[in-house]
Amino acid sequence: EGHDLVVVGSANADLVIGVRRRPAAGETVLGSDLATYPGGKGGNQAVAAARLGARTALLARVGDDAHGRLLLDTQRAAGVDTRPVLVGGAPTGVALITVDPSGDNSIVVSPGANARLTSADIEAAAPLLAAARVVSLQLEIPLETVAAAVRAVGPDTRVVLNPSPPAPLPPDVLAACDPLVVNEHEARSLLDGDPAEAGDDPAAWAAALLGRGSRSVVITLGPAGALAADRRGQTRVPGVPVEAVDTTGAGDAFTGALAWRLGTGDDLATAVRYAVRVGAAAVTRPGAQQSYPTAAEVAALPD
Ligand code: RIB
Ligand code: NA
Repeated sequence: EGHDLVVVGSANADLVIGVRRRPAAGETVLGSDLATYPGGKGGNQAVAAARLGARTALLARVGDDAHGRLLLDTQRAAGVDTRPVLVGGAPTGVALITVDPSGDNSIVVSPGANARLTSADIEAAAPLLAAARVVSLQLEIPLETVAAAVRAVGPDTRVVLNPSPPAPLPPDVLAACDPLVVNEHEARSLLDGDPAEAGDDPAAWAAALLGRGSRSVVITLGPAGALAADRRGQTRVPGVPVEAVDTTGAGDAFTGALAWRLGTGDDLATAVRYAVRVGAAAVTRPGAQQSYPTAAEVAALPD
């Protein structure tokens, strides 16, 4: 029996410092005490889905070090099947993160072991991907590894991709996305040079991305909610009003929840509505994974 969701992607230790404002080039600022949190876009998606009740596995690579052990412990505590996680080859990935008083973050990632997750590693795990209802991907691992994962999925497996950090996508990868999940920055980056890029209309970005071959598109709009688009039409889903403390990894919580709900049979708009609530809950608490809600907490949010 396959998993509801297999996440193929990155696992990072997030080294987080709160700042009043970010330093400019050549400048030094003092910040808060250092916090070390489990993160990485792949690890985050897996924890988000598992905490909501999804049977989830993570295919990732961490270093044989203290950060790697922290990440694996957190995944297991959330109920993620970590048997596919590979260990060694380079230090665990690290994200250096500053968070400002409005809850916005800036991130520099050192991929480390994530960069050593290879196509051969994917091929060795092909049965796992072939049996999954949904495979969810991001771009903190090599693009050729992502392409190998797209090739390894089963005929009934749905592929979800958040192209973050943004990079040009091979046509066969884009054509598998159902949906492609992007925020404003990622949408504009993928549409580089397209007339839709110049405007401020998410509906136009979604139409242009569908035109490039993605099967469906979801555009996340932060506090304004999200837009779901496929060949039958578009649905605008409003945001849930919450007080933002830390937006780090809120998009990953959204995407992990969305991927799981789609695998259970929700239609795109219904899954996006649920995922917006999961993302909203995640911004109300510090950090990424440890801020993610249970299903009961999602149900308790205001409508
Ligand atoms: O999307 C948030 C994540 O981006 C952080 O957890 C950090 O590890 C980087 O990968
Ligand atoms: Na958070």
